[in-house]
Amino acid sequence: MHIGIPAETREYERRVAATPETVKKYVSMGHKVSVQSGAGTSASYPDEAYASAGAQLVNAQTAFGADLVLKVQTPTDSEIPLLKRGAVVVGMLEPFDVENSSKLATAGVTAFALEAAPRTTRAQSLDVLSSQANIAGYKAVLLAADLYPRFMPMLMTAAGTVKAARVLILGAGVAGLQAIATAKRLGAVIEASDVRPAVKEQIESLGAKFLDVPYETDEEREAAQGVGGYARPMPPSWLARQSALVHERAKQADVIITTALIPGRPAPTLITVDTVRAMKPGSVLIDLAAGRGGEYEGRRGGNCPLTEADKVVIRHGVTVAGYTNLASMVASDASALYARNLLDFMKLILTSEGALNIDLADDIIAATLITRDGSLLRKAA
Ligand code: NAI
Repeated sequence: MHIGIPAETREYERRVAATPETVKKYVSMGHKVSVQSGAGTSASYPDEAYASAGAQLVNAQTAFGADLVLKVQTPTDSEIPLLKRGAVVVGMLEPFDVENSSKLATAGVTAFALEAAPRTTRAQSLDVLSSQANIAGYKAVLLAADLYPRFMPMLMTAAGTVKAARVLILGAGVAGLQAIATAKRLGAVIEASDVRPAVKEQIESLGAKFLDVPYETDEEREAAQGVGGYARPMPPSWLARQSALVHERAKQADVIITTALIPGRPAPTLITVDTVRAMKPGSVLIDLAAGRGGEYEGRRGGNCPLTEADKVVIRHGVTVAGYTNLASMVASDASALYARNLLDFMKLILTSEGALNIDLADDIIAATLITRDGSLLRKAA
């Protein structure tokens, strides 16, 4: 099989879909690997390292023209025509974006969107959402510490005592839990909340306080269980009580990190404009749902309506950061983990002889396949 690794071209993207380590493995499995020259440069993987691993260095046309194309982000409108009809594309291909999937279908390719893999033990090694969210949670805390005009840890100095920063983390999935662990290492005092009851123990075991919003009805209890490990939208009654509690805790917080997402739907609003107004001057909000929330003033916010995707703005004295490329800011490790996720996925769709084998009885393959030979398989979210 001819495997192509194009350079990523979307704004702020620094990752690459294969590293010299995984290229070496593909080559040893008998595949021909073509890496676009410069594809790994921004992730600190130079062309020479790919060449030593056995790859050919090629231009974009050749990399996109391979039988199997490995991507980080979904190809752009100008890249899609470079794909060969009948080729296979694997990457984070936005499975809930039907318009994008339709474009891939029209191009006649077979496409796998790895974000759609089930959250099962078997799928853990190829779980791109986890590998990248883990990094995003870590980086969010470091950026918050950088934007915050005070210390994170408690300090006792000859000039007086400095209080530890109070960090509030909303959404304690993969990113949120890593954010708790990272903020803890920096010496902050942490509170965290999530809709799923299972996370209480995880939050507490990392040394943070769990903000409990008790369920009052069976409907609330049932919604909180989620589906397949993911959150479902909570009933308005629970969200109203959560919002009141978050408002009170936000007034005391120095740093807030929000990570709440619901797959295929707009991210919930957890920090309202009123809450931002009530926050302390100089406090920092890092919104990992930037660009994925509801509409506000003609653009999509995040878990806070005031968040602007890819911008750091100051609103009512609060620094609101809407980075959408946090994993990409740790490009070298993010690529290394992502590339290993892809390698593990490849083992599911390639036989030991190197031929393509799409077995729809396999739940991971069935869930991630969004187009097959020009047909659109996921019509709606
Ligand atoms: P995510 O990125 O979709 O969402 C982040 C968090 O936001 C979730 O914990 C969600 O419950 C929370 N959230 C949604 N609405 C909220 C609200 N109104 N208020 C507060 N929090 C809210 O989720 P992620 O991090 O990708 O995974 C969620 C969970 O899936 C993990 O924590 C884990 O339990 C499970 N999982 C299982 C895996 C496996 O078994 N292979 C692998 C990865 C995750």
